[in-house]
Amino acid sequence: MPSNVHFHDQRKQAAETSLLAETLSGFAASPKWISPKYFYDRRGSELFEQICRQPEYYPTRTEEAILAQAAGSIAAIAGHHASLVELGSGASRKVRLLLEAMHPTSYLGIDISRDFLLSSTTRLAGDYPWLDVHAACADFSQPMHLPDGFDGAHPLAFFPGSSIGNFTPEQATAFLGNLHNLLPKGGGLLIGVDLVKDTQVLEAAYNDRAGVTAAFNLNLLERIRTELDSDIDPTRFVHHAFFNEHESRIEMHLISPAKQQVRIDGHAFDFAAGESLHTENSYKYTAESFCDLAGNAGFKSIARWSDPRQLFSVHYLERE
Ligand code: AVJ
Repeated sequence: MPSNVHFHDQRKQAAETSLLAETLSGFAASPKWISPKYFYDRRGSELFEQICRQPEYYPTRTEEAILAQAAGSIAAIAGHHASLVELGSGASRKVRLLLEAMHPTSYLGIDISRDFLLSSTTRLAGDYPWLDVHAACADFSQPMHLPDGFDGAHPLAFFPGSSIGNFTPEQATAFLGNLHNLLPKGGGLLIGVDLVKDTQVLEAAYNDRAGVTAAFNLNLLERIRTELDSDIDPTRFVHHAFFNEHESRIEMHLISPAKQQVRIDGHAFDFAAGESLHTENSYKYTAESFCDLAGNAGFKSIARWSDPRQLFSVHYLERE
């Protein structure tokens, strides 16, 4: 373990869930479903990085351009002697833009994946020798706390990538409530939110021509096939993604074009022809609908930046 990263293990034993248990219960449910958190094994994480480079997938490059432009203003609002608390990786270029503009005294990365967290924070500590780097292994859909020894007097929490879109509005409110408990009054939250827009633009982003999103979606079945005792055949499913306007979300599904039975760990599951396995929701907000959601969780809107096409929005909120 590198000595220049302060590591804090905040995992709760009971919160452990497994691919096997969740697959069995999700396949037994009607409609069938599985959590998008299982996308991100080694191959899935690689495919996600490839998605971010597809011409149709606008969120990553749009958010990065917004942050590059707004970094000076963000640093001015955060003020001197701020600390930065990143929810998620720490591997992205986005956090580097902020570190360079803000020059915070300390950085805390929070992530559920221990290995990913350690490698990304170790790299940050190497690249920014003046920075006091902390890593907390925790599930940020659960209540969190700032670790001992972390100077979080003026924290700015950073939650990029529109990752909040994977939560239902109810879960998003609960998550913002957890952040409200984590942050002191006056603390900041910088959060990236994907905006509602033309359906064709939205749907193209989840149906890239190179088929990377389809491969990412199907990789879930590959994990079930290789990690569990299962005869599931990913070639007998097809990727389906569309915008559900009523729920304001992109839905990703894996469809079984033909009737089939799959076996997992000794259990049999029947798929009717055309039946779906629901794999992901990605909620889209308007600037107003997101500010309302944040307001309900005790966060006041301080500033907001967007791109000329209004594809993506970065919100600076203050904990009340
Ligand atoms: C990481 C949840 C923000 O919803 O756009 C990308 C995941 N799924 N393409 C998103 C994803 C398919 C992504 N988030």
